[in-house]
Formats: sequence, C-alpha cells, structure tokens
Amino acid sequence: ERYNYGMIGLGVMGRNLLYNIAENGFSIAGFDLDTEKVRELHEGATSEMQLKGIGSLEDFVAALETPRKIILMVPAGKPVDAVLENMTPLLSEGDIVVDAGNSYFRDTERRIADLAARNLHFMGMGVSGGEKGARKGPSIMPGGDREAFNLLKPMLESIAAKVDGEACTAYMGKSSAGNYVKMVHNGIEYAIMQLISEAYDLLKKGAGLTNNELYEVFRDLNNGEMNSFLIEITRDIFHQKDSLADGYLVDHILDKAGAKGTGKWTSEQAMEIGVSIPTIDIAVTSRILSAYKDERIMASRLYTEKEITAPEDKTLFIKEVGDALYLATLISYAQGLALLVKASEEYRFDIPVKDVVKIWRGGCIIRSLLLEKFYSAYTKNDRLGNILLDGEISGIVKSKIKALRNTAAYAVSNGISSLGLQTALGYFDAYTTESLPVNLIQAQRDYFGAHTYQRTDREGIFHTSWESANN
Ligand code: 6PG
Repeated sequence: ERYNYGMIGLGVMGRNLLYNIAENGFSIAGFDLDTEKVRELHEGATSEMQLKGIGSLEDFVAALETPRKIILMVPAGKPVDAVLENMTPLLSEGDIVVDAGNSYFRDTERRIADLAARNLHFMGMGVSGGEKGARKGPSIMPGGDREAFNLLKPMLESIAAKVDGEACTAYMGKSSAGNYVKMVHNGIEYAIMQLISEAYDLLKKGAGLTNNELYEVFRDLNNGEMNSFLIEITRDIFHQKDSLADGYLVDHILDKAGAKGTGKWTSEQAMEIGVSIPTIDIAVTSRILSAYKDERIMASRLYTEKEITAPEDKTLFIKEVGDALYLATLISYAQGLALLVKASEEYRFDIPVKDVVKIWRGGCIIRSLLLEKFYSAYTKNDRLGNILLDGEISGIVKSKIKALRNTAAYAVSNGISSLGLQTALGYFDAYTTESLPVNLIQAQRDYFGAHTYQRTDREGIFHTSWESANN
C-alpha cells in the first residue's frame, strides 16, 4: 500500500499540516532529517489516521503512489534547495513537489524551471494560520502549474478553513503567484500588527489603561465590526498572567521585534514595481528600529521632554483610537491589495484578487470581518485597482477619518510614536489629493538636471533654462 501524499519537514507546521491531511482521509508519509521528529509523529496521531514517519529519504519516496505529491514544509532558502538536490534524482516524471513554506517568489521561479527540465512539477503555495491553522484549517494560496494544482485541489479544499461552507483556498495565479500572494499577506500582517501596537501604546500611555481595561477594549473591538484574528489574540494577550514573575506576561516581554523576511520582501517589491505601500514599509522599518534598544535608552535620557497629557474625554478617546485603528487597518489592506493588482500585471501572474480576499476571510492571520467588505467590492468590480475607490468602502472611510486625524494628532502632540497611524493617514491624504506639490519637484529636477517636465495645459515634454535670481 502506497501513500497518497508525502510531507517533508516535520516541524510544528509540517507536522500539523500532515495530521490535518490525514484526518481528512488521505494517507500520508512524513520525512524529516531529524529522526526524533519522525518517531514523535506517531504520538500525536489518532487511530483513524493513515500515516507513517519514515527516516530515510529513499524509503520515503518509494512509499508514495505515483505521480508523487510531496509537500515541503522546511525553512525558506537553502534548506529547500538542499531537499530538492537530494530528492529530485529519486523522483519520476510527472511527480509534483509543492513548497508550502514562506519561500521568496524568485526562488520558486528558479525551482520551477530546474524541475521542469527533469519533467517534474514544482509549485509554490502559501499557507497561513500558524500552528493551529495548519492543524484545524489554514488559508491556502497555491499557484503555478494548473495540472498539478488540479490534482491537489480536492485535498486542499478538504483541509482548508471554511467560511460559509466554502474552502479558503483557490488558484492564485501563474508561476510563483502563490508565494507572492502569501508575501503580501505577511506585509499586511506586519502593518496591522504595527497599528495594533500603536493603539495599545496610546491607550496605555495616553489614557492610562491597565491590562484588564485593555482586555476589555480589545474584547469590545473584536465583538464589533473590527472582529479579526489579530484583535482576538491581542485581547487574550492582555489576560495572560506571567509564570516567572508577578503580573502580566506582556509587561515582561522585551520590546525588540524579530522578522523573518517576508515583510521586507513586500516593501522591496513595492519599490521595485512602483507601488506605494508606506504603512507596510513603516511596519518593516519599525521592527528594525525596535532593535536599537540600547540607543533608544540613551536617547530617551537625552531628550526627556515628553510630558504626556491625558485625553480630556477618556471614553471618546478610546472610541476614536478604535476607529483610527479600524481605518488605518483598512488603508493597509488597500496598499497591499494595490501591490497585488500591479504585480499581477507586471509579472503576468493573473492573480484573481477577488479570490485572494475571499480565501483570506478564514484561516489566515489577517482574517477579519473587513475582508467581507473587500470581497463584495471585488465581486462588484473585479478590476478594482484600489479598494479606496469603492463606493461602499468610501462610506466607511468617511465615517472614521476624523477619528484617525484626532488620534494621530494626539500622538504627535504628546510625542507618542505612531508611525503606522501617521503613514496610513498620510497615504490617504496624498491618495485623495487632486493636486500634489510635485510640480515643484519636477521644476527642481529640471532646474538642476534638465530632467524635463510635462505641463498641465499642453501635450509634450518640456525643458526650461531656469534663471537664477542672483544673476
Ligand atoms: C502566517 C504567518 C507566518 C509567520 C511568518 C511571519 O501567515 O501564518 O505569517 O507565516 O508568522 O513567518 O513571521 P515574521 O514576523 O517572523 O517575519
């Protein structure tokens, strides 16, 4: 008896995804270089699951039905290439290798070509939802080879999260589109996390809320229109007592954020293909800045002018911070989705953005009620370049913009860093301005570098010999 699927990489994500697949009635073999992990695989399994941990790559490959369908859940980068190098000589024509990690999309393109030369299919597939998602239903973003995708589709649909009975997985487009969509998902994830942390800071330092009160604020937000996974876990974090010291765990966690690279890639990509995503950029750079802990300590001693004035009306302040967070979050999605629209054209991915927002409604880290609104916007117009241009979305924006302005203004005048909120607002203000002062920049460029400019009143390219007033 051969196994329907194979999983390489039995770390937390691989192992949980494997159980999910097995629980849905597909037999599956697992392989890991770490034989301890192979042995442990059986401990977490139920008797109904048809699975087997195999400690040798040769035996693992031989145990799979053909065409083989092998999923990789190993760290992005070199480990993926190492697995492919060892495994491809063992495979047969028509076999399918699916990379389910957070691989860089360019790496996936290279691997597709390398494996195609051996008549093997290679696919990049984003998987979101963390440990629990992998086990109980993630959002799955496959792309590339259509033929291979069709073979996997029934399995993917059964293991994915469900929203209104529909699976949170769909074909994301050609080539490395699956990785690209997951990369942008993570960029948006960075932005939302940054914004939530700023709301927390304002509520704590400005309004002086305790962890219990913060729990209540995030609970109320989660029970309303802001319902989302990230707000929900934030709520719970404020309830977690510490086991090593007194008080709450959150207060004992060092304020230096890590990052594995997907956020940075999103920003690099946006620069590369000319899309403005400042709130995602600022989220990436804020994590970098957070690591300057020692310098921040020195600088804070040197510049201690900050006297924070409590907001006059605490209840109103809390309400406005919530609304500001909601709108800035919406604007972050708008930036990320605009990047997907442009990338789809630029790289000919043919990304169905409507399906992207549809499958992000469940299972993934950025799932939220807001995505329902985006889904209906794209259902009305699947060519929508920016969700801020949708009529219904504009209604939401208009109802919250004052709260975002007030909150950002409060942060600025009290010296509470709020880069995410400010860039979301700044992006909105620039995006909704008919005439930007960039005419002046064009004049300067032409002045010192003869870079030419266009005019508002006639066609063509112009250059002027600018006169210096000192002449
Ligand atoms: C998910 C997450 C997951 C992970 C990333 C981001 O969608 O399940 O995005 O992929 O948390 O690795 O991690 P960093 O914050 O470390 O970059």
